[in-house]
Amino acid sequence: MKLAIIGTGYIGLVGAAVFADWGNEVIGIDIDLKKIERIKSGDMPIYEPGLSELVLNNISAKRLDFTTSLPKGIKDAEVVFICVGTPQGDDGSANLNYVWSVAKEIGENLDEYKVIVVKSTVPVGTNERVKEIIKENLKNNVRFDVVSNPEFLREGSSIEDMQNTDRTVVGYDSERALKVMRKLYSSIESPLVECDLRSAELIKYASNAFLATKISFINEIAQLCEKAGANVQTVAKGMGLDKRIGNHFLNAGLGYGGSCFPKDVAALYKTSTDMAYDFKLLRSVMEVNHRQRINYVKKIEYSFGKNLSGKTVACLGLAFKNNTDDIRESVAIKTIRIIRGLGAKIKVYDPQAVENAKNDLGLSNVEYTKNAYDCVKNADALCILTEWEEFKLLDYKKVKSLMKGSKIFDGRNLLKQDEVEKLGFEYFAIGKISNGLDILDEERPVYAILRNGRRQKNK
Ligand SMILES: NC(=O)c1ccc[n+]([C@@H]2O[C@H](COP(=O)([O-])OP(=O)(O)OC[C@H]3O[C@@H](n4cnc5c(N)ncnc54)[C@H](O)[C@@H]3O)[C@@H](O)[C@H]2O)c1
Repeated sequence: MKLAIIGTGYIGLVGAAVFADWGNEVIGIDIDLKKIERIKSGDMPIYEPGLSELVLNNISAKRLDFTTSLPKGIKDAEVVFICVGTPQGDDGSANLNYVWSVAKEIGENLDEYKVIVVKSTVPVGTNERVKEIIKENLKNNVRFDVVSNPEFLREGSSIEDMQNTDRTVVGYDSERALKVMRKLYSSIESPLVECDLRSAELIKYASNAFLATKISFINEIAQLCEKAGANVQTVAKGMGLDKRIGNHFLNAGLGYGGSCFPKDVAALYKTSTDMAYDFKLLRSVMEVNHRQRINYVKKIEYSFGKNLSGKTVACLGLAFKNNTDDIRESVAIKTIRIIRGLGAKIKVYDPQAVENAKNDLGLSNVEYTKNAYDCVKNADALCILTEWEEFKLLDYKKVKSLMKGSKIFDGRNLLKQDEVEKLGFEYFAIGKISNGLDILDEERPVYAILRNGRRQKNK
């Protein structure tokens, strides 16, 4: 089939490459000339495992091309995907300006029947409005249909996710469009959820909000574990083996971040408020998420006698998750900002996200290093902020010898507590009792575990 993909960001570029790999003829369209030139020259504007090879293979097989011209790009396409960004607006709602502008341009350039597919994450009612805008801007009396086809892939494993998706959601209001979508996804074995436009739009938000809720829930349990002298990883394992609960998204940490969860949870909350529904649970999910990183920083602060001024804190991780260079709404960066604000000198390292982070964090009181060992050199404390496999595999004996201090604050529960404690580190994780007792404070655990394993009530 002939496809056009408007917006070649994280979703559009991966989508274009995967659809082409399935044998379709795909053209990716973006207003960003530099981005299009980079992609065409084989230099991917984003880091995503396997993406470069997939794009280059399909360009050489003449199934994939890119342009900055929307009229040229959509001309021969049977299906046109809208994959532009829908960032968070000031009031929490999704900013739909990019979607509206693309809909207008599609309307102005439509000259034969096409299926217009909205893949961007958009609030309830958006697909209907896209249809109206296209109609208002048509120059010819041509037919078209609008389909909602939200995307569920995760950055860092997006190619694999798209090829082996759990389900594909197709919201439609025309049998003709549904037939086209069924043909497009005919090679996919997982279920096709065929439904009305509004339900499709809500499936996406409800899914992300539910996953964010799971994360905030286990983070609340983690706080309780620290007070009660329990281990959140053990609790999560015991919970996750129950098939009704499942073991995914039960990793306690610094809270959710990234370009999707924070904005989608906020947008769903705004949608419900606009519809005069007080979605109390979502409000708590957002509050808990915010509190999680504050609690983490408090732990660091208390361990240094509530004074971080002049301390050097090595931070491993800048990306919002592993295997990506994306720093949008990265909790690692938000956490670094707080620690820096408390007077600490920051050293950072990330395998992929350093360049993006420089634009965001700037250079004030931050030293960007070339590898993890340079990062930890002479540091008073080490913070693990992103769950890169590389950080798990470091030689911690060497890390210990390079550091000035011996505290590790593992914000992702990445390391094995016994192993690092044996090396002489004071290890502070999330939802586990650490071997350091110096963090005891009126706000800290009710119980603390003494090094001999006995529990002591905090006075
Ligand atoms: N990133 C994810 O993991 C993910 C997952 C699921 C869904 N989504 C959703 O997919 C959508 C896109 O997200 P993303 O992360 O790919 O965004 P992105 O910012 O990486 O990419 C958007 C692209 O659209 C381009 N663009 C903007 N206006 C344009 C126009 N008028 N014509 C052509 N191109 C235009 C931009 O230049 C940019 O390259 C969002 O709604 C997002 O919520 C993202």
